[in-house]
Amino acid sequence: MSEQDYMRRAIELARKGEGWCHPNPMVGAVIVKDGRIIGEGYHARCGELHAERNAIASLRESARGATIYVTLEPCCHYGRTPPCTEAIIEQKIARVVIGSRDPNPRVSGGGAKVLREAGIEVVEDFLREECDALNPVFFHYITTKTPYVIMKYAMTADGKIATKTGASKWITGEAARGRVQQMRHACMGIMAGIGTVLADDPMLNCRIEGGRDPVRIICDSSLKIPADSAICRTAKDIPTIVVSAFADLPDGEISTAENGNADAASSVQEKIQTLQKCGIRVLNVPDRNHPGGTRPENSRPDLRRLIQLLGGMEIDSILLEGGGTLNESALQAGIVQEVRAFIAPKLFGGQAKTPVEGSGISVPDEAVQMSVTGVEQIGADLMVSFRVENGSKSQ
Ligand SMILES: NC(=O)c1ccc[n+]([C@@H]2O[C@H](COP(=O)([O-])OP(=O)(O)OC[C@H]3O[C@@H](n4cnc5c(N)ncnc54)[C@H](OP(=O)(O)O)[C@@H]3O)[C@@H](O)[C@H]2O)c1
Repeated sequence: MSEQDYMRRAIELARKGEGWCHPNPMVGAVIVKDGRIIGEGYHARCGELHAERNAIASLRESARGATIYVTLEPCCHYGRTPPCTEAIIEQKIARVVIGSRDPNPRVSGGGAKVLREAGIEVVEDFLREECDALNPVFFHYITTKTPYVIMKYAMTADGKIATKTGASKWITGEAARGRVQQMRHACMGIMAGIGTVLADDPMLNCRIEGGRDPVRIICDSSLKIPADSAICRTAKDIPTIVVSAFADLPDGEISTAENGNADAASSVQEKIQTLQKCGIRVLNVPDRNHPGGTRPENSRPDLRRLIQLLGGMEIDSILLEGGGTLNESALQAGIVQEVRAFIAPKLFGGQAKTPVEGSGISVPDEAVQMSVTGVEQIGADLMVSFRVENGSKSQ
């Protein structure tokens, strides 16, 4: 096996942490001595051992003089676990080959420096692009403290997300829908607007066996969500946040105590209590800068403030599943980093909804600019991935 093969094995191991290690990065490590792999590990869950320590724990022989291939620069600080650099030095490993640099300000070059100071040979940027591709979420979250947002939609080849009557089941085939389930497992949160909840009564859970449900975040300015919706009925089992925008209520999470005064019961407070009894957290994030016209009660949640609050809850990634109204607001707010468009080989025609609604722009120069990062055929459908290039108003 070549050095590239060892690092690619480490990348393969890292991917096993997908969906479980948030808000930490996916990391894999392989220890090689005399042309043999003698230890392997990956970071499985936040709070548990890092990849390097798991690889060391798997050793059945001494690693003295060995090389460790690790997809991300080893940490050199005391976080939830002790520094990995210490373990590498203790094991008398002679050489460390690193893929990605760690943008975490608490590491950032420090890990490589500590190792070099201990007399260890360090190679950096090895297969860096492939290693970096593991962790766009971590790189974004650790530097901005806000979640990495992926806007996902399924549309026909003429850009429709439903027929003229609003029917949308199904646009893409089973294989593409399976990939969406994988994305739900991989992201810590999933976000949708109340329009989609009222139209489709979705569960927004992960239906992969052994998969993890994302935290459901419903943007619902005036709490229209029906108590008998699938979301409310399952909120005791699946973490759910409903985001309101009441100008006359305090900002942030509405606590049960705050809302427990029966004398003060209004229809809004009753609704909040009903949702809380379902197990839902209600987050009030009115847009104080742009209240809805002359009627502040028409305000909608301030999405930029919302993602800061969600980042504070350690939600590092969000799959934004629209619809078109919320998608447009999210793009306007500059909170979207990536777009994944599933495109079905079908044409609907007519006056039907599109992935991004709102009032649109007048000249092409005002467009949200993106670059294509991948094109993949999944079953009969295409998945085109884009990086948003001019959407960083939130940072
Ligand atoms: N094919 C696909 O990939 C796909 C995915 C999702 C949905 N859909 C389809 O899309 C349709 C629903 O789309 P939609 O555009 O009507 O609904 P939507 O985007 O899901 O929800 C829009 C509503 O969300 C609320 N909202 C709360 N905060 C907001 C904010 N900051 N910005 C914008 N809206 C905010 C607003 O209602 P309030 O002001 O009352 O809160 C708004 O009317 C359904 O037919 C569904 O089947 C298709």
